[in-house]
Amino acid sequence: HEEFTKVKNIADIELGKYEMETWYFSPFPPEYRECKKMYFSEHDLCFFKHREHMLAHVKKCTMLHPPGTEIYRNGKISMFEVDGRKAKGYCQNLCYLAKLFLDHKTLYWDVDLFLFYIMCECDERGAHITGYFSKEKSSEEGFNLACILTLPPYQRRGYGKFLISFSYELSKIEGKVGTPERPLSDLGLVSYRGYWTRVLLTLLREREGSVSIKELSDLTAFKTDDIISTLQHLSLIQYQKGQHVICAAPHVIDAHLRKAGGAGLEVDPTKIIFTPYN
Ligand code: COA
Ligand code: NA
Repeated sequence: HEEFTKVKNIADIELGKYEMETWYFSPFPPEYRECKKMYFSEHDLCFFKHREHMLAHVKKCTMLHPPGTEIYRNGKISMFEVDGRKAKGYCQNLCYLAKLFLDHKTLYWDVDLFLFYIMCECDERGAHITGYFSKEKSSEEGFNLACILTLPPYQRRGYGKFLISFSYELSKIEGKVGTPERPLSDLGLVSYRGYWTRVLLTLLREREGSVSIKELSDLTAFKTDDIISTLQHLSLIQYQKGQHVICAAPHVIDAHLRKAGGAGLEVDPTKIIFTPYN
């Protein structure tokens, strides 16, 4: 019986100007379980079984952006910080939506403990959500990201790398190193691995290899374990006499960089206005 309820129920959703096919089961309240298509009101993420009901709701909805503080704006891209305790309904709706595209990851429904960083493309009609990441308000394990999602119509445009980069920029402002919560999905892992590779190799290229793992961590806010595993994966590190030594000839670095994929949409750190949560 439990298995039955975990079968993907909602096949499609409508959100803003997009229709999307869903990927996984999401535990919507029982009255929504039978419906094949669901309609989201794009600014408050309220969901409906019928398009007319969604449209009637949108007409009354005065929100034009996520219910939080705009902490970044660069061209048409904005980031909003939403506190799960202050905007509980919105964040719960976002979790229902996100779960449609997240498999094994345990989503925390206790949204109070999290901040949500919502990425939007803005135009004269408002700020349109493209994806987000969530972050525990205080993580004992040093996690700087819990869940990350780019909505399917916006995937493969470098927005995932933007979100990952943004999570590390926040860690730098906090003066901490960070790491994403595990397990990572397959797509999460390729995105992170590509991001870590590009950033680390770019630094190694500038420093011509003579840099320690500690320095790399100070410069990037990456956890040293992630630096070591990335360099190990590329065979650019050796364990000698009880310590890790980076061995990376410039032409080897260049060859890896060419394979590492693009930088994605870049974050301009000077445009972040952020106060760490205490
Ligand atoms: N097939 C193969 N590689 C893919 C891919 C796909 N469908 N999607 C992303 N990648 C890889 C590529 O290497 C890509 O870099 P490239 O385009 O330069 O080659 C890199 O990941 C990042 O691409 P980017 O465009 O910055 O990411 P995105 O906006 O598509 O978002 C995720 C990446 C992981 C956030 C997105 O796939 C997603 O939301 N997935 C569902 C939720 C999820 O799994 N989240 C992670 C949970 S830990
Ligand atoms: Na993303």
